[in-house]
Amino acid sequence: MADRNEQKWWKTSVIYQIYPRSFKDSDGDGIGDLNGIIEKLDYLEELGIDAVWLSPVCKSPQDDNGYDISDYQDIDPLFGSLQDMERLIKEAGEHGIKIIMDLVLNHTSDEHRWFLEAKKSKDNPYHDYYVWRDGEEGVLPNDMRACFGGPAWEWVPELSQYYFHQFSVKQPDLNWENEAVRREIYEMILWWMDKGVGGFRLDVIDQIAKEPDLKITGNGPRLHEFIRELSRETFQKGDIVTVGECWGADTERAKLYSAPDGSEFSMVFQFEHIMLDSVPGREKWDLAPLPFVKLKEVLNKWQCELQGSGWNSLFWDNHDLPRIVSRWGNDKEYRTESAKMLATVLHGMQGTPYIYQGEELGMTNTDYEIGEYRDIETLHMYEERLEAGYSKEEIMRSIHAKGRDNARTPMQWNCGEGAGFTDGTPWIRINGNYGEINAERELADPQSVFHYYKRLIHLRKEYPVFVHGSFQLLLEDDPNIFAYVREWEGVRLLVLCNFFGSETWCSLKEMWEGKKWLLCNYQDAENEEILRPYEARMILL
Ligand code: NOJ
Repeated sequence: MADRNEQKWWKTSVIYQIYPRSFKDSDGDGIGDLNGIIEKLDYLEELGIDAVWLSPVCKSPQDDNGYDISDYQDIDPLFGSLQDMERLIKEAGEHGIKIIMDLVLNHTSDEHRWFLEAKKSKDNPYHDYYVWRDGEEGVLPNDMRACFGGPAWEWVPELSQYYFHQFSVKQPDLNWENEAVRREIYEMILWWMDKGVGGFRLDVIDQIAKEPDLKITGNGPRLHEFIRELSRETFQKGDIVTVGECWGADTERAKLYSAPDGSEFSMVFQFEHIMLDSVPGREKWDLAPLPFVKLKEVLNKWQCELQGSGWNSLFWDNHDLPRIVSRWGNDKEYRTESAKMLATVLHGMQGTPYIYQGEELGMTNTDYEIGEYRDIETLHMYEERLEAGYSKEEIMRSIHAKGRDNARTPMQWNCGEGAGFTDGTPWIRINGNYGEINAERELADPQSVFHYYKRLIHLRKEYPVFVHGSFQLLLEDDPNIFAYVREWEGVRLLVLCNFFGSETWCSLKEMWEGKKWLLCNYQDAENEEILRPYEARMILL
């Protein structure tokens, strides 16, 4: 298979995710916007990232914070205008930063023109853009459930039909079987590519080929056929990065998605490692301790299997996930150390690393009251579980651990009122620790989490072993240490991390004695055989 991706820019890149609503508000309405992002381009350049993935900024009723798009070719006034977007693309480019858009192609908003037309009559040309089933009121086509609670079918009395929605009722699923839908989508994508965007992140793309009668949502029979056509008709016409969000991906599928011949995407987000701290087979809210040895096994599998035959995305955080320092680190006495350790484990691996806004500061989870949360998923789950008899305490424990708003509280820029995020009333409460954790403080402190991330990003550029090297996991069964070696053209790099808060003894001393330490999250090593709480090292062997 021809490796058309070998020299691609996104293999040496680090991508930064911005959740625009919570990044920087420039006009005092309490909601972040595009001009706010433009104000912070110097900050992003200083960090050293190559591209920014923007969560959706297109026109939207904001039922699911923009993941319900009503016009793919306009910007929501909350965030600015199309001119602002063009300016962002241009000015980011001048800072050496590409802009990656979030494409939500599985569904639209129910306020999208296509859906408004589709609802008018069964012979409307747009009717078949969505997924309908005839029926009787109250007798649903089947018992499928929507991700944000309730049935996946919604009755439209005027048509005596149900439409299908995998997410909220305001997010009707598009019918990818209809070629006209696919053509419209391709045109829209080419239009954005013409505007100079650097790529796309594709929302729940493995759910587009659904077969609701067979109760299939993810990995439908025509999935790869659709993706190949999409890629051929659009992405392959430019030098862009594409990353599919694929909850159902295993390594075999990921090799298709990220095949080196460039026939599908550049890479995918897979979630196997991220689901390990839930009770297997249950929902993410059903908490379980992290099985650490299993985490190593899973990441090792992804590293080894995709070597040479695909490409990994590396991430701990995003706008749907809790903050990693609170989740698998210690956001109290070892916040700085554990944030740096987690970054080391991730950035040492092969693939393209993603940093979610605030991760580079070691921002933490929230422990709000239910009335302070805004996320549709969290609020639905709260009601559903209360009704199902769960105690309020148990539900709140799940929300504090896994709720999506943990990641969505405003970016903490400084210790002033509004945390430097807004002069107005923020759309969601700012985390109370912004006086201590904020960008201004971290920029001024060479030992901060920010400066550590910056260093990691630079190392990736400096040493090709990060990009091309093979991966070998060491000490597989060690209950505390995450250790691996990367190797490329005679250069060997050891990554050695104590994943927990107690000291632990490491048997690998012979490997690193007398070698060059590239990075450590403690300033000086006293007894090198003992790894201190959350200690992380990168050593050239
Ligand atoms: C995945 C997105 O990341 C999430 O935020 C959104 O709610 C769903 N897809 C639906 O679009």
